[in-house]
Amino acid sequence: MYFKEEKLDMKPTYYITTPIYYPSDKLHVGHTYTTVAADALSRFKKMKGYDVFFLTGTDEHGQKIEEKAKESGVAPIEYVDKIVKDIKDLWDLMDIDYDFFIRTTDPEHEKSVQRIFKKLYENGDIYKSFYEGWYCTPCEAFWTETQLKEGKCPDCGREVKQEKEEAYFFKMSKYADRLIAHIEENPDFIQPESRKNEMINNFLKPGLQDLCVSRTTFDWGVPVDFDPGHVVYVWIDALSNYITALGYMNDRPQLMEKYWPADVHLIGKDILRFHTIYWPIMLMALDLPLPKQIFGHGWILLKGGKMSKSKGNVVDPVVLSNKYGVDSLRYFALREMTFGADGVYNEEALISRINSDLANDLGNLLSRTIAMVEKYFGGIIPLEKQEDAIDLDLRELISQTPETLEKHMDKLELSNALASIWKLISRANKYIDETTPWILGKDESKKARLSMVLFNLAETLRVVTSLIKPFMPSTSQKMQEQLNIPDDALTWDSLKEFGSYDYGMKMSKKENLFPRVELEKEEKKSEKEKNNIKAKNEKKTDTSKNEEDLIKIDDFAKVKLKVGSVEECTKHPDADKLLILKVRIGEEVRQIVSGIANHYSPESLVGKKVVVVTNLKKSKIRGVESQGMILAAANEDALNVVTIDGGLPSGTEVR
Ligand code: MSP
Repeated sequence: MYFKEEKLDMKPTYYITTPIYYPSDKLHVGHTYTTVAADALSRFKKMKGYDVFFLTGTDEHGQKIEEKAKESGVAPIEYVDKIVKDIKDLWDLMDIDYDFFIRTTDPEHEKSVQRIFKKLYENGDIYKSFYEGWYCTPCEAFWTETQLKEGKCPDCGREVKQEKEEAYFFKMSKYADRLIAHIEENPDFIQPESRKNEMINNFLKPGLQDLCVSRTTFDWGVPVDFDPGHVVYVWIDALSNYITALGYMNDRPQLMEKYWPADVHLIGKDILRFHTIYWPIMLMALDLPLPKQIFGHGWILLKGGKMSKSKGNVVDPVVLSNKYGVDSLRYFALREMTFGADGVYNEEALISRINSDLANDLGNLLSRTIAMVEKYFGGIIPLEKQEDAIDLDLRELISQTPETLEKHMDKLELSNALASIWKLISRANKYIDETTPWILGKDESKKARLSMVLFNLAETLRVVTSLIKPFMPSTSQKMQEQLNIPDDALTWDSLKEFGSYDYGMKMSKKENLFPRVELEKEEKKSEKEKNNIKAKNEKKTDTSKNEEDLIKIDDFAKVKLKVGSVEECTKHPDADKLLILKVRIGEEVRQIVSGIANHYSPESLVGKKVVVVTNLKKSKIRGVESQGMILAAANEDALNVVTIDGGLPSGTEVR
């Protein structure tokens, strides 16, 4: 069947697309990024009650694929079939719940593209002429002399060659003024904002060239049915997928009526020009409304630049998912990078997120809470509860968090959306320290109070279970099972009211959500670094043998160490590497400046229990007063703050 399911009920609709991928190489973590983001957004909208159509697929035509198939000695369709299967398997592995997977080799798509091409020709938007220009085979793009960068392709920097051929052209300039006006009148049309100016100033204002839309030098494409020998040049074929998937110019117009115009096309910034100029112009020529938004996100870079197979620096999402888990990878991709900006991928940052945000913050909150509900109440929180003023702050945050998250999702601020959930998680961990349930548990007369404390924690976890679902579906599922909450207690509407669920079903602690990952540092170091470290260690061992370098217990006792709980944390205004922390040590709150900003975001530290050197002389670090020092383990690559993982309160002495 062509469509996965028919959707003809009357909820508000939301149509979201990813780019359709070239099945020429194995997909890397950069490709996965867009699709995971689209999936999270789609699941979020579904949870909010929208009738979502989430489209992804593959862009299978063109000279590049034809050549690759030839090199492999198979027909192009056999070549792409195999890779498309791998791509579908990858999306299954990554838990991508798309509604339809379009292939540009689908007969229905091909038929619609032929009709679109003919309509554009008959309307006079496409005409036949000759093309002479510089052609980049890998990008499948013609360039003019002035567009070349140092004689090479301006997009990929590779060699270009002169080509001349009979071809059809699209009169782009005809629609340029209308498009500029549309972009200016609709500030959300191109996002983020900075990319909009780039398109207007670099491409639209200098004047648009007519676009070559057919080729005769290869066969692997949709044939132009009224002019044998021509195949539709790949961008018209590819971009049309967004409407052919809805049955445009086909026998299924009801989906088109229902979902078009798209709410958002999510794409990488490298294909922004095609989506914000050629595509809207095509739609204008077809007399169709324009998509509401085109969002061009940044690239995931590696230290050596953009990921690409030719550079040999790709990161395989299958390997990473098998090693660290699908949800860890989904979380990391969406949390670590600001959606819209470029970000540099490194495995240490992934491990650090897993250990601190997932294992420590989320994993511990779940396991500590359920362990206490089991220990003190046999898995069911009693109905009798005693409130206290200290609860208000946490409760307020529980009820605000869904709304804050929604605001971020509406602006596609996916990292901030996740940060808002983690703010609640950190606040709940801090609430455990404030309320010390293990002390309440020792006193029979405090059972009602203990019941309230655990109820507040369970409510936090219920909200968290529901809100993380779009981002980390299987973790949410595991939490739901351990907390034993029915589906209807996790709906968007059910989150609105604090205390609306009574936890009458028995909770039970199962395996940890996220086991901590040990950084395999030695393996990751280059030979040179290894030798340096070895040399340093040898030196250390030698000196430690020297009696004079050993200290007495009295020397050690001079250093006063105490447990501190991080209450606030902000960036230093004048130094990128420094954070300013407000740390509670018993009754006292101290300000401490610490050089850990490259390894921790400010919000990830709030709620953590750290070890503080309390008898260090006061000092000013880049103009900010600091009273004390936070202990951390560090080597050349990574830094881990020393934390306390039990329930001892702040102010406790470390000996
Ligand atoms: N087939 C075209 C899209 C046609 S849409 C009508 C194409 N395919 S692609 O497979 O080369 O790239 C697909 C998407 O992956 C693009 O949006 C591209 O920006 C994105 N990415 C490829 N490498 C990337 C990173 N390293 N980081 C983030 N996204 C990256 O272009």
